[in-house]
Amino acid sequence: MHDITAGQWWRGAAIYELYLRSFANGGAHDAGACAGDGTGNLAGVRERLPYLADLGIDAIWFSPWYPSPMADAGYDVADFRDIAPEFGTLAEADALVGEAHKLDIKIIIDIVPNHCSDQHPWFQEALRSQPGSPERARFWFRPGRGPDGALPPNNWQSIFGGPAWRRIPDGEWYLHLFAPEQPDFNWGNPDVRSEFEDILRFWFDRGVDGIRIDSAALLTKDPLLPDTAPGLPDPASDRDDVHEIYRAWRRVADEYEDKVLIGEVWLPDADRLARYTRPDELHTVFNFPYLNCPWDAAALKKVIDSSPVPATWVLSNHDVDRHVSRYGRANTSFDLQGRDHSQPVDLVLGTRRARAAALLTMALPDAVYIYQGEELGLWEVEDIPDELRQDPIWHRTGGRDPGRDGSRVPLPWSGKEPPFGFCDGCQPWLPQPKEWRDLTVEHESCDPGSMLQLYRAALRIRRERLGAGPMTWLPSADGVLVFDRGDRLRCVVNISSVPAELPAGTLLLASNLLGADGTVPTDTAVWLAIS
Ligand code: NOJ
Repeated sequence: MHDITAGQWWRGAAIYELYLRSFANGGAHDAGACAGDGTGNLAGVRERLPYLADLGIDAIWFSPWYPSPMADAGYDVADFRDIAPEFGTLAEADALVGEAHKLDIKIIIDIVPNHCSDQHPWFQEALRSQPGSPERARFWFRPGRGPDGALPPNNWQSIFGGPAWRRIPDGEWYLHLFAPEQPDFNWGNPDVRSEFEDILRFWFDRGVDGIRIDSAALLTKDPLLPDTAPGLPDPASDRDDVHEIYRAWRRVADEYEDKVLIGEVWLPDADRLARYTRPDELHTVFNFPYLNCPWDAAALKKVIDSSPVPATWVLSNHDVDRHVSRYGRANTSFDLQGRDHSQPVDLVLGTRRARAAALLTMALPDAVYIYQGEELGLWEVEDIPDELRQDPIWHRTGGRDPGRDGSRVPLPWSGKEPPFGFCDGCQPWLPQPKEWRDLTVEHESCDPGSMLQLYRAALRIRRERLGAGPMTWLPSADGVLVFDRGDRLRCVVNISSVPAELPAGTLLLASNLLGADGTVPTDTAVWLAIS
């Protein structure tokens, strides 16, 4: 029913987040791509495009695919205009874009404008140049404080733990809001601005349909670099001057047809968040309050009602605990700053709720994001051996924060043993749980009650029945959400502890078996046709 080739294709799209390192390790299509090294690559994606077409998605968002030392899994970019050799080649990326388009799948790539890799030529030039030089002015180099400048220039802390400054041999310090291998660009510098506008054009010219903007609220900093203090505005986040950048980027996107800009903006304040999607700025931002929200009807309703428009619904991504695990814990909410793997997880309960959450999410208006593996019901792998962990968060917090590796474990495709068809006779870069033998694509494709079949059915019905129709809440019992989407679909989600009445309509899809008396059991969602 929704036509993704018309303008604003992204509004109703189902967008699949493809975490390249963990999707599929395929054979080499072009010289240079590695087969069987245990890391996902473009060849693997090209081989599996039919799987994604069959799943029923409209677009793929690729995690960063650029040359990178991988200090932060590719979010430390050494060259914004090429493909990492371990992932493939630029020619292969071009071929992939063409193949995806033939299947009516759009391609969104990840641009990381807040920082680059410390191996990026600009940063290497800056290190070789003098303090005060134009090369250093593209970053935040400053003398230190205290005797001999031995203390960092201010009290800012890295989001990954520890101070946000690193000292170099000539005594200056440079700012890194993430890992030390990720120096922050100075967006007050005109070279940085023009470089990124050029990078956008480079990828749009190659046929890429959209850009996911990493850490979009962090780009501009108070140039005086004041200490942070409780009660004062954050000098390094969500500053008013960041919006000029997105107005300029929108002008670039508008030089083309149907390109979309999507901001990764983690802000609790709905009004501040809404500023990023003003008509001359980004097209959408991720709705993280929905992801953070506990499995609670009143809380979900509140978040849904205050969502930015156009909406984007996200349950999981590569930075958060997978929602099967979140929903199986006593505390079902998520806090990026406080991952807690000490709570017991009931995977049966979590899976049941994840199934209901999938139907809730896919019935909501506008775009939905699916993080690879959620369609298989994968859970957060919490028992990765310490020596195999790669996330800088785990390393920089001395293991206090378990980090994000557990959501990035390579996908299980087929077979009964690891590597489950992820690669041919290789050791995946993170170990897969043996229990995933029941969660492979192969296994779930033959099981009518699987998560995969639920996602396939829901995406098909969503595509057929849900156009731009608005959502209308209907009266419901406590703990139960009931709403209509347009005049064709009614969604009921029972998050209360007692069975809920099934409203009028013809059953289309249910996340679990209904009660013998036709009621909707706890933690169950149902879609009904109303015309
Ligand atoms: C957000 C990305 O999603 C995350 O994975 C990354 O570590 C940080 N930005 C820094 O680029």
